[in-house]
Amino acid sequence: MKIIELEEVGSTNEYCKAIDSCEDLCVFAKRQTAGKGTKGRSFISLDGGLYVSVMRHYDNFSAENAFKIMINGCVAVCKTLENFGIHPVIRWANDILVNGKKICGTLIENTFSSGKIIRSIVGIGINVKNEISSEIEQIATSMKEVLGKNLNLQEVKSAFISNLDCDFSIEDYKRYISWLGQSVTLKTEDEVRVVKAVDVTENGRLLVDWCGNMLEISAAEVSLRL
Ligand code: BTN
Repeated sequence: MKIIELEEVGSTNEYCKAIDSCEDLCVFAKRQTAGKGTKGRSFISLDGGLYVSVMRHYDNFSAENAFKIMINGCVAVCKTLENFGIHPVIRWANDILVNGKKICGTLIENTFSSGKIIRSIVGIGINVKNEISSEIEQIATSMKEVLGKNLNLQEVKSAFISNLDCDFSIEDYKRYISWLGQSVTLKTEDEVRVVKAVDVTENGRLLVDWCGNMLEISAAEVSLRL
């Protein structure tokens, strides 16, 4: 896969979208001035973090298998953290936490045509040795903070690129969901429910037990608190 390394960009996801080519790309930026998070939020992207978008094109990738794209992105990040001795947990569907704080977020933007995914852009932001701004220090951490030592960003990038080449399974993904079987809180716009997390299905839905009723939840519907 071709690798592009930028000094500064608005958003690596937007950079990929603007490219009019079917070449698969991995675009890194040292910093982003308009980093995008999920649900229309912004993603602070200061120097020292790893900001990357992986753009892939497909001929025949059923939209039903969209979760596979998320699995490969999230597990590649988890393996990368493990390469540096860090033990992450995935907060379904696509946040990665260490010691209860977010260390990585992912923003996946797919393009569909006739029930198929023709292009995916997997945007990943890992807090490596960037400063964590005071507004989010209660909920976010970095590799540097967890390890208590400085890191070489290039080494983290190289590990990530190697892990990107692997094809991971749902079992690999579930290995990082250590909270299955426990009580979690699901929050929608109008209500908060405490449920027991039972499983993650092949298509990426969270199976929960709510007062004896089995419910399948989609990530778009709720936010999850562990
Ligand atoms: C989230 O936690 O809400 C998702 C954050 C995703 C951030 C990454 S950084 C690289 C890529 N470019 C963006 O603008 N966003 C993603």
